[in-house]
Amino acid sequence: MKVPLTLNGEQQIWEIDNRVILVDVLRQKKLLSVKCGCGTLNCGACTVLMDGRAVLSCVIPAVAVKDSTVETLEYCLKTPLCSVILDAFAKMNIQLCGYCNAGKILTAYSLINLYQRPSRQLIYDYVKEFNCLCTETDILIQGIILAANTYWSQRGRELHYGNF
Ligand code: FES
Repeated sequence: MKVPLTLNGEQQIWEIDNRVILVDVLRQKKLLSVKCGCGTLNCGACTVLMDGRAVLSCVIPAVAVKDSTVETLEYCLKTPLCSVILDAFAKMNIQLCGYCNAGKILTAYSLINLYQRPSRQLIYDYVKEFNCLCTETDILIQGIILAANTYWSQRGRELHYGNF
């Protein structure tokens, strides 16, 4: 089946079997930030952005991304928002390992873009299933709130005074 999409800013057409799962296709394309940790919606290791929303690619048929935009951690790491998130995580001493980094960073990225200053409860609803032991859930939530406040304060100043 032909699946046109935009992957990490590049238009592509995949020729794929309709039974393959998104995480497997992305890893075949050497996007190795996307990992299959559990395959059962319990870890976040397979997180990618689909049309700006953090989704778990271990349960999404690859054909479902037809005409969508898919972004992986490799792409998002180059953005100003990701720099702010990583700074905020460092300030909060939030640990990132290869297992959990895509889930933590891309979930923060999606929530901050979609909701600007997401509530503690909303963040909790998104991160509660991440079972990596690197960081306590409450510290992770505080880090995402710090990143959201920093990012939108900076954006507000840029809009007000220009970017100089
Ligand atoms: Fe998808 Fe764990 S691999 S949630």
